[in-house]
Amino acid sequence: MMFERPRGTRDFGPKDMLLRRRVENAFRKTCESFGFREIGTPTFENLELFTARSGPGIVKELYDFKDKGGRELALRPEFTASIMRLYANDLRNEPKPIKVYTMGNCFRYEEPQMGRYREFWQYNCEIIGAPALEADAEIIALAIESLKGAGLNNIDARIGHIGMLRSYLKTDREAQSRILHCLDKRDFGTLREELRKADLSSEYETLRDLVYLKGGPEVLDEAGELLKGGGNESLSYLRDLSRQLSLYGITDYVFDLGVVRGLDYYTGMVFEIDSPNLGAEKQVGGGGAYDLSDVFGFDFINSTGFAIGVDRVALAAEAEGLKVKEVGPEAFVIPIGDAMREKGFEVLRDLRTAGVRCDIDLVGKGPSKNLEYASSLGVRWAVLVGEDEWKRGAVALRDLDSGEQIEIPLKEIADKMLSSR
Ligand code: HAM
Repeated sequence: MMFERPRGTRDFGPKDMLLRRRVENAFRKTCESFGFREIGTPTFENLELFTARSGPGIVKELYDFKDKGGRELALRPEFTASIMRLYANDLRNEPKPIKVYTMGNCFRYEEPQMGRYREFWQYNCEIIGAPALEADAEIIALAIESLKGAGLNNIDARIGHIGMLRSYLKTDREAQSRILHCLDKRDFGTLREELRKADLSSEYETLRDLVYLKGGPEVLDEAGELLKGGGNESLSYLRDLSRQLSLYGITDYVFDLGVVRGLDYYTGMVFEIDSPNLGAEKQVGGGGAYDLSDVFGFDFINSTGFAIGVDRVALAAEAEGLKVKEVGPEAFVIPIGDAMREKGFEVLRDLRTAGVRCDIDLVGKGPSKNLEYASSLGVRWAVLVGEDEWKRGAVALRDLDSGEQIEIPLKEIADKMLSSR
């Protein structure tokens, strides 16, 4: 019987995993160099955690289910809500700011295509309890440096401000969400309808024009004119943010007042980063300043963060020509004849203890078949354990790259391999 993988999921072979681990390790390294500490949260949570404030876009994509005890649960579609729950329950009394990161699989019931999956991996960072400007700049700098560290040289960062849109939309939070959702999807038909329902029809043209403002600092002036002085506070915040980002040497981004984000908890600066090397699903990361305090019942605290899609970054890194070398065994022990099998295992154990990645013939093949197998694994060293050499406290060591073979004392094998890595 053949079993298919569930739609939107993937298997990863050894080569895929190598690339993914390389990307993940690069993220970890950059993040820790910024002083972030790793945390972990459950793969599934109570459904309510995600319906409380994630917004209509995410709620309809939730993988929710009842467990055998009748509890309503959902696989996590993202990390931010879980991290705020962890903060509310356990981290509230820690000295501020709290800088944490996590990495793992998330689930969204989306229409699968290249770069968009139902199970995908995120690398997520949050700063809780730092002044907004400093935290926002640090988080954008970390997102950009993380992508560069993972091998992406070609990225487009776009920075906007959802607080500006929220303060401009004088209506209740639910109506705001629906209007913002239309702006995010650039669905101007429904936007007109939602604005009419919220008695804001006269704002249609301003909003439509605003989301297309994109470029250097001059677009902030243009937005000021469009909003007739309405968004001044947010616009001057973005000018300050630009100065703060220059302290990190970060100047390569544009202001984009059309960054709306698909999640509902953002309240201030928002940003997105694309890799132009990817197709339709080119957004490799995004985030911003948000407020989930009312969901958990704690006092407002500045929070800002981002998530980067590991899968998309792996695709983009490959598209930019990142090559990863396979890390298979570097040595292969071949006992010559049954009488030498035990001795072969002695050599194997010594080499493994010394830190050499080492394998042995488990099948009982003859020497030439074993040499073929070792070559197919990309192994450099074949260790031929024969009776005559053993009597002299030695083995035959063949360099499969050059074809050269020498006799070498047992106690020198590991050093030879480690020093010629
Ligand atoms: P998000 O924009 O929904 O933000 O997701 C972040 C990234 O995850 C996206 O830019 C994309 O690269 C990747 N991603 C999302 N959905 C999929 C999918 N179906 N398949 C493959 N990759 C995907 C968040 O999740 C926020 N929690 C980020 C954040 C943290 N904001 C503040 N703190």
